[in-house]
Amino acid sequence: MIQKNLDFVLSEKKKKIDKALTRVLTKKKGFNKPLYDAMLYSVSAGGKRLRPAIMLLVGGDLFNMDKHEGLMQTACSIEMIHTYSLIHDDLPSMDDDDFRRGLPTLHKKYDESVAILAGDALFSLAIETFAKAEGFKDKDKLKGLSFLLENVGTEGMVAGQYVDTKIDNYKRNSLVLKYIHLKKTAAMISASFALPALLSGAKNACFERLAKLGTSAGLLFQIADDIIDVTQSSEVLGKTAGKDLKQNKLTFVSLYGLEKAKRMAVKEAQTARRLSDEINFNTPYIPELIEYFHKRIK
Ligand code: IPE
Ligand code: IPE
Ligand code: MG
Ligand code: MG
Ligand code: MG
Repeated sequence: MIQKNLDFVLSEKKKKIDKALTRVLTKKKGFNKPLYDAMLYSVSAGGKRLRPAIMLLVGGDLFNMDKHEGLMQTACSIEMIHTYSLIHDDLPSMDDDDFRRGLPTLHKKYDESVAILAGDALFSLAIETFAKAEGFKDKDKLKGLSFLLENVGTEGMVAGQYVDTKIDNYKRNSLVLKYIHLKKTAAMISASFALPALLSGAKNACFERLAKLGTSAGLLFQIADDIIDVTQSSEVLGKTAGKDLKQNKLTFVSLYGLEKAKRMAVKEAQTARRLSDEINFNTPYIPELIEYFHKRIK
């Protein structure tokens, strides 16, 4: 069999995810229709869809869930939560960014109240969509949902965003930096890797291996995000380049310098590769995805 390459597989997944998201977010009438339009504006602005793609790839590869409608629904949930986190991340009181996914940010296109409410609404719609996802045992779905929430909330993404935003109240050291990156980014990427295991009732050891791989891949992803913030243009990034320095953020580049940050990305990529080798994936896509996470900085 000819092996489809990762780019092709990701673009096929992206098409299906985009279609499913549009279905969830299109409302034809009602006083709240403009709110749906605002949510859809940010969701369909052209993100890479990496988190839902990871869920579909892992689910298809390890748990025979290639055509599982419920898995697609839960994958849409994670993308809606990710998009809400970006909308709020860009707000003037957070990173104050005018540009996201190649378009004006939601608060620029509409206004701040719309951006706050669209974020709130994406979060609750995500949880509703997950709770109603079809084809899972209730107990597996509940485990999956609570695991997702742990990784997104006050012990997960929101925790990282809090410390990132209030960095002046903390020491600028490696401990705080790792905390921010593990929480604000790696937690949700780790959830994307491990959720298919929970949803299919897989053994705990399998779930834990996937969560560990996802944490390392997620850390690599955010180290790369810090690096490309200084090495790539706004046009390529689709968001404002050089933002971290301007806002005096604690990042791998600000703490260690560009060259050391790149060496640390190499080390994290090696760790992620080793962890992915410990899992018997049937296709090369997950190991290739780890490579892609690292190649973003080259
Ligand atoms: C951006 O994530 C925010 C980070 C956690 C670094 P992505 O780079 O996955 O953004 P989109 O979804 O493709 O826009
Ligand atoms: C954001 O980190 C992580 C989120 C939870 C949204 P950044 O602030 O570095 O993300 P970008 O660079 O704006 O995409
Ligand atoms: Mg931020
Ligand atoms: Mg930001
Ligand atoms: Mg960034």
